[in-house]
Amino acid sequence: MERVKTAVLLSGRGSNLQSLIDATADKNFPAEIVCVISNVPGAGGLERAAQAGLPTVTINHRNFNGREPFEEVLQKELENAEVELVCLAGFMRLLTKRFVDRWHNRMINIHPSLLPSYKGLHTHERALKDGVRFTGCTVHFVRAEMDTGPIIVQAAVPVHPGDDADALADRVLTAEHRCYPLALKIVAGEKTHVIDNLVETECVRAPDTMLLNPRDN
Ligand code: GRF
Repeated sequence: MERVKTAVLLSGRGSNLQSLIDATADKNFPAEIVCVISNVPGAGGLERAAQAGLPTVTINHRNFNGREPFEEVLQKELENAEVELVCLAGFMRLLTKRFVDRWHNRMINIHPSLLPSYKGLHTHERALKDGVRFTGCTVHFVRAEMDTGPIIVQAAVPVHPGDDADALADRVLTAEHRCYPLALKIVAGEKTHVIDNLVETECVRAPDTMLLNPRDN
């Protein structure tokens, strides 16, 4: 089976990379990771990639005068590895419209909130401040405007009394590690069609279960 050649871009510890490494270890998974690229030297994710025997590249954005020259090198690395699909996994650089457009419907991102709520940083702190009863995570196709783009998979988790941002982040992260492999499987397995900025999937639907938080019994 031809697997979709996938790059993972990151800036940090790489726990989402790990979930993708674990999923793609199955030879029947429709995607394979062909390179891991970090813009931060020494990022934890690079170590995880090396442990898994994956090629790694560091492109330190600080060595470039602006986004475009950085992205030129990034694009070259992706082309060298014959990458077909890009996964952003805690990649903390904004990408230019030019680069994003080059990867239209071929680049996906994971974000720790139920988009379109809480775009940007400090999602868990902001959710706690607002007193929402559910939050979660989203995997979406990347568009030029930050944290927008057609939604592929979401997971909701409850917010509990006494949660602090770390507790909530942990609960959401567990959900992220389920969502990202699922989204990659759906996209690489060509189970998606993006129509008018909406993703149609040929997947098993979630059950029509209502979630209440707090419970009423
Ligand atoms: C995750 O919470 C992800 O949603 C966000 O950045 C974090 C990366 O964590 N975009 P990790 O490096 O994958 O552990």
